[in-house]
Amino acid sequence: MNFQKFFVLTLTIFLFLKCGGVRLLEWNYDSTNQLYWSLDCDFESNDLTNSKMSAELCGPTCSRTNGCTHFTWSDYQGGTCWMKKGSISKNNAKINKGLVCGIVDNNDPDNGGQTQNNVLATRHGATEMGACELPQGDYAVNLPVALGNIDSLGYLKFNGKYCGQILRINCGNGDLDIIVTNSNLGGGLDLYGSTWDLATNRKPPGETNCSVKLTNRNMLKSSDYQCYHSTGETNNSYYRNVGLFNTNGKLVVGAKFKGADGAHRGNNGYWAFDGYGTGDDQVNFYFQDGSNHAVFLRDCKNGSNKQIWS
Ligand SMILES: *[C@@H]1O[C@H](CO)[C@@H](O)[C@H](O)[C@H]1NC(C)=O
Ligand SMILES: *[C@@H]1O[C@H](CO)[C@@H](O)[C@H](O)[C@H]1NC(C)=O
Ligand SMILES: *[C@@H]1O[C@H](CO)[C@@H](O)[C@H](O)[C@H]1NC(C)=O
Repeated sequence: MNFQKFFVLTLTIFLFLKCGGVRLLEWNYDSTNQLYWSLDCDFESNDLTNSKMSAELCGPTCSRTNGCTHFTWSDYQGGTCWMKKGSISKNNAKINKGLVCGIVDNNDPDNGGQTQNNVLATRHGATEMGACELPQGDYAVNLPVALGNIDSLGYLKFNGKYCGQILRINCGNGDLDIIVTNSNLGGGLDLYGSTWDLATNRKPPGETNCSVKLTNRNMLKSSDYQCYHSTGETNNSYYRNVGLFNTNGKLVVGAKFKGADGAHRGNNGYWAFDGYGTGDDQVNFYFQDGSNHAVFLRDCKNGSNKQIWS
């Protein structure tokens, strides 16, 4: 045994003893399937679907399954792949002997939409809920913008589907993640005071240019999709106005309730329905990518208290 090998072996034994035999997770990258995986690790909850298969197939299957962002494989029933949804980080992995877990890399928040350059930005000096009427909640991103519809915004011209979505802007002072809380028809990015100050490094109010793109980040700290009633009338059987938020960047472009199409009433992300229905009926939200998500009306939260932005 040469000195180097001896040294490495001694160090390994030392670290093993020092850590009480508990290893840190070792992440491997599978470039074919664009995912990270590790042995002896687990992600809890957020189940999307599960299926019996070998450990080797679990990651690749997740990466080809719409909405699957991470997974855990266990030997349950001879081998089961637990596909999971929602935003996730390697730091959320728990050590669990005998399991395999992983994260699909192409769900990286950086892989949202294309970057639009030279978008006019102005300062919006107000404290208000904004046209999007987003519900009160535990927000992951607190820097608001009123999104406009000038041509330089390209695919990001205001539409209710952008309410609550997270944009990444750069106005010459580094990347900043901001949340769409309002519309600014006829204009560009109308940055609220808190956003303007960080984006421009406290320039006086005026105009500036920013790049902007859509991210896949969630507005709330939780990783689950969340349906809200726009008003406190959560069990009005003849009228409802509901929206689906926290969708990992998926854009809701339609909604149906008991066969009827919903419509936006105002520049927001809620879908209004007239006609009879109860909490035991489902509203189906349709995403721009062709997928959809059904929610029982009873599971839509009371969103009558609105978040105030400034
Ligand atoms: C913003 O960019 C446009 C196009 O590049 C340029 O004509 C304009 O002067 C810029 N405005 C500011 C305030 O930097
Ligand atoms: C929804 O919340 C609002 C505000 O807290 C409240 O006034 C209203 O009664 C609630 N609605 C229901 C059906 O509980
Ligand atoms: C209306 O909604 C509230 C809050 O969600 C619930 O406590 C109450 O039982 C509902 N009432 C009816 C008649 O369904």
